[in-house]
Amino acid sequence: MQANRRTFIKSLSAASALVATEGLAKPFGFPAYIPNLMKVSPNDKIRFATIGMGIQGNYDTMAALRNPDVELVAVADLYTGRLEHAKTAFGKDKDLFTTRDYREILARPDIDAVLVVTPDHWHDHITIAALKAGKHVYCEKPMVQHLNEGKAVIDAWKKSGKTMQVGSQRISSAAFQEAKRLVEAGDIGAINYIESNNDRFNAIGAWNYSVPPDASPQTVDWDRFLGDAPKRPFDANRFFRWRNYRDYGTGVAGDLFIHLITGVHFVTNTLGPTRIFSSGNLAYWKEGRDVPDVMTSLMDYPKTDKHEAFQMVLRVNFANAGKISNVTRIIGNEGQIEFSEDNLIMTKKKLPLAPGYGNYDSFFTFTEPVQQEFVKQYDAKYPPETRKAEPVKEVKFEAPKDDDAHAKHFGNFFENVRKGSQGTVEDPVFGFRAAAPVLASNESYFEQKVVYWDPVTMTQKNPSTSSASKKKASVASTKTVAKQ
Ligand SMILES: NC(=O)c1ccc[n+]([C@@H]2O[C@H](COP(=O)([O-])OP(=O)(O)OC[C@H]3O[C@@H](n4cnc5c(N)ncnc54)[C@H](O)[C@@H]3O)[C@@H](O)[C@H]2O)c1
Repeated sequence: MQANRRTFIKSLSAASALVATEGLAKPFGFPAYIPNLMKVSPNDKIRFATIGMGIQGNYDTMAALRNPDVELVAVADLYTGRLEHAKTAFGKDKDLFTTRDYREILARPDIDAVLVVTPDHWHDHITIAALKAGKHVYCEKPMVQHLNEGKAVIDAWKKSGKTMQVGSQRISSAAFQEAKRLVEAGDIGAINYIESNNDRFNAIGAWNYSVPPDASPQTVDWDRFLGDAPKRPFDANRFFRWRNYRDYGTGVAGDLFIHLITGVHFVTNTLGPTRIFSSGNLAYWKEGRDVPDVMTSLMDYPKTDKHEAFQMVLRVNFANAGKISNVTRIIGNEGQIEFSEDNLIMTKKKLPLAPGYGNYDSFFTFTEPVQQEFVKQYDAKYPPETRKAEPVKEVKFEAPKDDDAHAKHFGNFFENVRKGSQGTVEDPVFGFRAAAPVLASNESYFEQKVVYWDPVTMTQKNPSTSSASKKKASVASTKTVAKQ
């Protein structure tokens, strides 16, 4: 923070005048933007607030706090029980400010950064409002809920000059960093295929999380939860199991595919696929959800100056009562990288130049003289040294026992906040490019179409004409204004 203190003081005087006249006078009416406002608490700690203190909000907060010189000062959540729990879990030795209204947090000048850990349909609204209010933002994945929402976040981030990190923390793991190193070094040759499946067969794994018995319209701020989603009466399942509903979540693609896609983009330096198709079904968890529990997505990544063309195939089956053997593999023409938990195994295999002949081959169907001629020509063309394959090599990488990807991902965010830099490992441009194939997967599934995407300009070539996403965009633009 020291390096930026002078900038801070310079911009603070201008910015605080703005806040005083526009921000604080109208506590929830923020000035259009407060660029380059580098607020620093007196003890140089980064003071942050968590907005959305549910399951991941707790994990994110704990991971953030495993970094030095950061402090949690406020929490916003819509369920009273979670605000009370946060006070016990994180506020024992101090007064933790808690509120149902995230705008109260954004209005506080003593807060440097916010973690946005709400359901997906709130990500863009809160992130944009926070950037406009001069906060640095760590936003959970997927960065946005629909394809047409990404650019507004990117614009807000660019305009704000603030630091932003999107939260697919696995790319900060030692295993993904090693995979990136191996791929960049050409160790598995040109990548041609990437596959991953993430099957489950249990209620919690299928997102039927526990609903607290005191859930009611009194303990839950239902209207605020709905946000830009269609109005409907209080429903505790929708609030506590929001992933099961299109109005609030992004299904298996947004919850699970996103992590692998983020990892692949990190490892290969790709910008994204051009063609995305999904199919699937709601096969088992028919308790009222409106998203599939079996889904496969196919994506074509075109050749770029960073990589050859490759295909990616991703699958989730929440109804797999068979043998579950989840696997994630990056396959190249000289080997593969297979992830297993935090570790990886690289297998190197290179074909010899000589193709060989015999066995299940057409050779034996030739006449005797033709076979002899074939062998003569083959021997002339392929001397002995071209016939030997290099031995298959297996290289295991074990991440250090104390590798803490989650804390490191926050560490990268805080380090950039301190430097006054926007150069995080998962900035909103990266975050949107990783989210787009996921959101396209959903659009493909629900509209039964192939989605064509331009990963360079980040635009959809065949946007929806009648989709829920389009409806959402128009509702969102009016509601966002109303909410702020
Ligand atoms: N990076 C990861 O590995 C990872 C893992 C799990 C979840 N996530 C992401 O984290 C986010 C939250 O998931 P979760 O499992 O913690 O959900 P959750 O339901 O457990 O928690 C969400 C919380 O957000 C609160 N909330 C909703 N709208 C709000 C608003 N407008 N203002 C303030 N609080 C609000 C709710 O009260 C709830 O407590 C999702 O975007 C999810 O995709 C990421």
